[in-house]
Amino acid sequence: MTRAISLHDVSKSYARGPRVVDRVSLDIAPGEFLVLLGPSGCGKSTVLRMIAGLEEIDDGELLLDGEYANDWQPAERNIAMVFQNFALYPSMTSRDNIGFPLRIESPGADPRTRVDATARMLGIEDLLDRFPSQLSGGERQRVAMGRAIARHPSAFLMDEPLSNLDAKLRNHLRAEISQLTRELGVTTVYVTHDQSEAMSLGDRVAVLRGGVLQQVGTPREVYALPRNVFVAAFIGTPRINLLRGLVRAPLDGAMTISLGKQFLRLPEPLSLDHQMLRVQQGREVIVGLRSEAVRIAKHSSARPGEVPLTGLVEHMEFQGHETLVHFNTGSRPAVVPELEAPRPAARPTRRRRREAGPGVLDRLKERAGALRAGPVVVLEQPPETDTEPVPPEGRLPGDLVVRTTPDIRLRHGMQVPLLVDLAHLFVFDQHGDRICPAPARLPDLEE
Ligand SMILES: Nc1ncnc2c1ncn2[C@@H]1O[C@H](COP(=O)(O)OP(=O)(O)OP(=O)(O)O)[C@@H](O)[C@H]1O
Ligand SMILES: [Mg+2]
Repeated sequence: MTRAISLHDVSKSYARGPRVVDRVSLDIAPGEFLVLLGPSGCGKSTVLRMIAGLEEIDDGELLLDGEYANDWQPAERNIAMVFQNFALYPSMTSRDNIGFPLRIESPGADPRTRVDATARMLGIEDLLDRFPSQLSGGERQRVAMGRAIARHPSAFLMDEPLSNLDAKLRNHLRAEISQLTRELGVTTVYVTHDQSEAMSLGDRVAVLRGGVLQQVGTPREVYALPRNVFVAAFIGTPRINLLRGLVRAPLDGAMTISLGKQFLRLPEPLSLDHQMLRVQQGREVIVGLRSEAVRIAKHSSARPGEVPLTGLVEHMEFQGHETLVHFNTGSRPAVVPELEAPRPAARPTRRRRREAGPGVLDRLKERAGALRAGPVVVLEQPPETDTEPVPPEGRLPGDLVVRTTPDIRLRHGMQVPLLVDLAHLFVFDQHGDRICPAPARLPDLEE
């Protein structure tokens, strides 16, 4: 039997400190694969441990299949947990490691049949007589999975189970976990700070920041309709370009968003989404452009819904199947303080760090701490890290990354005409909340 797991306004703090999990509500359907995603320290493991019963819940309710379960013993919950560090008994063979929880559960019974069936499922039959020290990292993690599966739990909780493995093995095991949990049809809550892992595994992804749930949605939803700038910046690679803009909506003229010396002119009649920007007249906003929302217009003219911009080639990253071009458009990047600066070019140079004095990092940290507790993401850039002209050879740091085909011929320092696809334009208000596309639109995204 697989479980439905619900959290209603669940909070937790340690030793009377601040809440590390703050009124989190989540409904996880039986058989669903839900990924809890967020940066280090945002409370992911704490949420998992509360579901497992390893950590007490201060406030709010945990329901398992609709029943109040806050005070159930861990064993009563019939939930198996898989950790990052495998946690195998070093003095036991794989067979005994997998069979151990079964022996605890029913001391008289012989776990051999179940252990063998589990090993077959995981393709580890030939590892059963080895000790953990005789296994590779990937093999150990398979055995740890085996131990979790053999019990026939009604839910799996996995806390970064792959993060100790190298990239290739991680991808491989990621696919295995996905297939296995689907075959078993068991509700799974999977914790990671790796957005690509979250996107590739989850039926839904729950994004956590500073203990507060930011958004829960399908991978497609959180990518295409991030509720705020934090989600937008956390999901997707390369990271979304975030530029500081100013909305101008004169009564007798076209609406524009200034980006430094350039501007995006929004076509008339204004779309429903762009109409949302009227109330922002005269205000600073954050413009979000994913690297695929902008194209290089060297040999082609604008299609409907595209508006021009110009960029100076700063830097190119050849990736084989594509090239990422870093342009300087003369606009100012917006920074999400909890994530590191959007890209190295936007960080202050060593010279400027020296000039700014030793307190800058501390102030940044303080700021990140203060923001964590707050309900919104503020994107003002601390003046100390202002990326405005530190022009080595009279140039600004790159501020717009565009994805393009690898055969593109560009030279460093070239001025290049660009086209912005307004259908993929994100605008966030000063608090970081999305205003465009309009929060309640985009029925085409329903799956
Ligand atoms: N036993 C504890 N006592 C005091 N503080 C704790 C304890 N366990 C966790 N914390 C704090 O609670 C916060 C959330 O921790 P948690 O382990 O849930 O984060 P996380 O999202 O899993 O991070 P990571 O990705 O680094 O594993 C952190 O600030 C952490 O320092
Ligand atoms: Mg953790």
